[in-house]
Amino acid sequence: MLLQIKGVLASEEVREARRILACAPWGDGRITAGSQSALAKNNEQLPETCEQTQQLQQLLLRGLERHETFFSAALPKQISPPLFNRYGASANSFGNHVDSAVRFLRNGAGRVRTDISCTLFLADPEDYDGGELVVEDTFGEHRVKLAAGDLVLYPGTSVHRVLPVTRGYRVGSYFWIQSMVRSDEQRRLLYEMDKHLRRLRVGAGEADPSVIGLTGTYHNLLRMWMDV
Ligand code: NI
Repeated sequence: MLLQIKGVLASEEVREARRILACAPWGDGRITAGSQSALAKNNEQLPETCEQTQQLQQLLLRGLERHETFFSAALPKQISPPLFNRYGASANSFGNHVDSAVRFLRNGAGRVRTDISCTLFLADPEDYDGGELVVEDTFGEHRVKLAAGDLVLYPGTSVHRVLPVTRGYRVGSYFWIQSMVRSDEQRRLLYEMDKHLRRLRVGAGEADPSVIGLTGTYHNLLRMWMDV
């Protein structure tokens, strides 16, 4: 499932992120790439350990934690610490690749299976040309370029790329999620069911027998499919 989620960061949080990024020590993005994607990757990123990365991570994780749609769609078991990158000038694209299946966390802090790949946009789309995230699936190619503060999530299994930025800078965050529900198909069913149930709850009320029954079915499917 490819899903766009609006307003993970509010506009004042986007401004705060930009203030932090204004004095950020950008470096070559190939440092953290695997051998195959190093050939395709041409961008800049922030060191994982710098102060700015840590401040931005807190800001972003707070946004994710309070966002109902994000939780419903991702059912996160573990989120890799968000990283930050920039495309522009001569370091402006990332060719076709599939993300590594596992992220090894720093200092032996564990591993994250990359069920879901995420990109959060921090630059306004009017401030740069190009830079679309292109995700391929069985329905064809999807081009994604979102407002600052918005997020896209897509299956970690997808071939994807970032088109060259020809004006300005595309700044964003990227990270991966190990979901409580490993299967993209099952996760999608649960997300759709939860979405419709929330609407039904507003229309019919919490005490409606169908709302109670279907809520039970949702949780029973979740219990059957999830791994905690
Ligand atoms: Ni990637």
